[in-house]
Amino acid sequence: MDVKVNIKRYDSDADAPASYWQEFSLAVPETATVLDALIQIREEMDGTLSLRCSCRSAICGSCAMRVNGHAVLACKTRASESLNTEGVITVEPAGNMPVVQDLVVDFDTFWDKIRAVEPYLQPQGPEPEGEYIASNESMLHLSSVTACIMCGACVSDCTVLEVDPTFLGPAALAKAYRFTADPRDGDAAGVSQRRLEQLGLPSGMWDCTRCYECVQVCPKGVAPMDRIMALREQAISLGLGDNNGARHAEAPRVMQPRQSRDTIRPLLPRLTYSMGGTLSSHSKPALPEESAGGRDVTTRGAPPPPGQHQRGGAPLASGFEIRCAESAKRTRMSARRMKAVVVAVR
Ligand code: SF4
Ligand code: SF4
Ligand code: FES
Repeated sequence: MDVKVNIKRYDSDADAPASYWQEFSLAVPETATVLDALIQIREEMDGTLSLRCSCRSAICGSCAMRVNGHAVLACKTRASESLNTEGVITVEPAGNMPVVQDLVVDFDTFWDKIRAVEPYLQPQGPEPEGEYIASNESMLHLSSVTACIMCGACVSDCTVLEVDPTFLGPAALAKAYRFTADPRDGDAAGVSQRRLEQLGLPSGMWDCTRCYECVQVCPKGVAPMDRIMALREQAISLGLGDNNGARHAEAPRVMQPRQSRDTIRPLLPRLTYSMGGTLSSHSKPALPEESAGGRDVTTRGAPPPPGQHQRGGAPLASGFEIRCAESAKRTRMSARRMKAVVVAVR
């Protein structure tokens, strides 16, 4: 089978490093994967082509990259099924991470964010005399999350990370759910309140826009977005809904019994930003006619003016910078390094 593979390349050793496209024409077996084709190019046509791979069996997670614009495991993707009408396969490095060389990206921020969610069990209270007991059902429930192979495909295509590199991201949040849903984590009832409080901070669970990309590209069926929605449910059930993200997510549920979608939509900014307290204490949000007379929406929880936060008239750091600093603290990175990562990714 004749194929053309158009590869986005990057040589960090060049005098002025910049990405460029290079097309290779070759014949591969009908059963070849995209990774087979890339290895063939490296072995027979251009030994300088850099890529990562190991197991070639969709197990190790090394070979995540974008094929035809979407993140995949190259070893799990048939070349014959990736050809466009002109017989071309387009291959790029994974997104949302700085490129090191050709198809190799820097996973440092990926691992920093995994570490930031403290990926180990944290039981509270006295230790049991025997082992910690976890039911079969709870472990079976977790098996789909523990199937994650840390390939980074979901991070590559996350639409929020593309505009805000401080977002914890789908892989780290799915990993966090693996612990909040574990009955051995948290208090005696298995409630991980401290974790959920941390995950509710800016750049955490409430920043996901539910675009579904991570669910579509995950090669292991982890469905990170569904885990993020489950984290939100856990947080709200603990009364941790006093933030803009929770109010925004809950607004339709609060109003749906009485209002149509068209009525809810224009009220979303007010429901999101101007309600104090938790949602459970606001079963009846103000409607336009009820609030006529001037409810002050610039009080607690109101959005800052575009581009900056103001206090007493003095301009403070931009929202993005604040989130960047918070994320640096959360991931135990220096602010300088976080900024360098942001610049590199952008
Ligand atoms: S659903 Fe959320 S976490 Fe998943 S890719 Fe979209 S924004 Fe990112
Ligand atoms: S959740 Fe899926 S796509 Fe994301 S790192 Fe894990 S296996 Fe890869
Ligand atoms: S080489 Fe291991 S997942 Fe592709």
